[in-house]
Amino acid sequence: MTSLVIRRPDDCHLHLRDETALRAVLPFTATRFARAIVMPNLKPPITTTELALAYRKRILAALPPGVSFEPLMTLYLTDQTTPQEITRAQASGTVHGAKLYPAGATTHSDAGVTDVRRIDAVLERMAEVSMVLQVHGEVTDPDVDMFDREARFIDEVLAPLAERHRTLRVVFEHITTRAAVQFVASGRKGIAATVTPQHLLMNRNALFEGGLRPHHYCLPVLKAEADRAALLAAVAGGSERFFLGTDSAPHARAAKETACGCAGIFSAHAGIELYAEAFEAAGALDKLEGFASCHGADFYGLPRNTGTLTLTREPWEVPQHYPFGADELVPLRAGERIAWRIAAARGAPA
Ligand code: DOR
Ligand code: ZN
Repeated sequence: MTSLVIRRPDDCHLHLRDETALRAVLPFTATRFARAIVMPNLKPPITTTELALAYRKRILAALPPGVSFEPLMTLYLTDQTTPQEITRAQASGTVHGAKLYPAGATTHSDAGVTDVRRIDAVLERMAEVSMVLQVHGEVTDPDVDMFDREARFIDEVLAPLAERHRTLRVVFEHITTRAAVQFVASGRKGIAATVTPQHLLMNRNALFEGGLRPHHYCLPVLKAEADRAALLAAVAGGSERFFLGTDSAPHARAAKETACGCAGIFSAHAGIELYAEAFEAAGALDKLEGFASCHGADFYGLPRNTGTLTLTREPWEVPQHYPFGADELVPLRAGERIAWRIAAARGAPA
């Protein structure tokens, strides 16, 4: 097969940042995806409906002329979030989820939740109004091994939370382990997961390939080959519980290539092409459309997009870097080839 036409996809987990960074990265996403679930971990974080609506306006204003793209906004949960704020957010019609960052788990998570029991009333309200909970699933105890933090989170936090709130819809974001695949695949109704391109295409060896590779560092960190294989098998199996969320997370080159580099991989420049490679390797290109364009929309209760995206199997070389305001952005696969490219994109968001 040299060409593939799929329904226009959605990126169900994306970091767009703000201001010059936003203007630099948004076109990559908007040329591929009709919509994206936009993460709220700005500085300061998007903790209220009002902030989410203002951020949405800035995103729309940053779109290149003539490009239609729908940002789907999220709230950043803190120990102070109130059930009333959830009601407001739901009533706005533009906030589609609230994100649980365990405090200290990742980039810009210091204002996050210190103990999930503190937000039980908020989670209860979310279940009532049918708002989706998006979860960064890692425990934050510095004594827990880096590679065990997701599995420990499932047992200690997520499984009990999902039981306490039986009707709450939960997206376990950017899953990285076989344990997470099993939890999601066998979980109760209303549990789903996003999967990134890097966790489908690379294992933790990629962090040390010929030297220390800061541009392969993200959180949750890349895991073992058995974990990668389990993720790929899960998405290739076509279950509607797994869907596309790139977690494209741009950081300036200087913030990555330093003694204490930021976590985050920029992949929006090839946000669907990289998945095509992964699905092709699994012999499951026929499952790409469900994963990229249907399962996420269905889970969020959104109409599926009506346009199409045409991918061609024609390799291209990724630039060494892209402009990023006054700085540079090093994309995933910089200077290397990607097997698929976009031939055409048609149609506005649903
Ligand atoms: O690698 C990551 N980068 N993981 C996250 O959870 C946050 C993200 C970011 O915002 O840079
Ligand atoms: Zn993220």
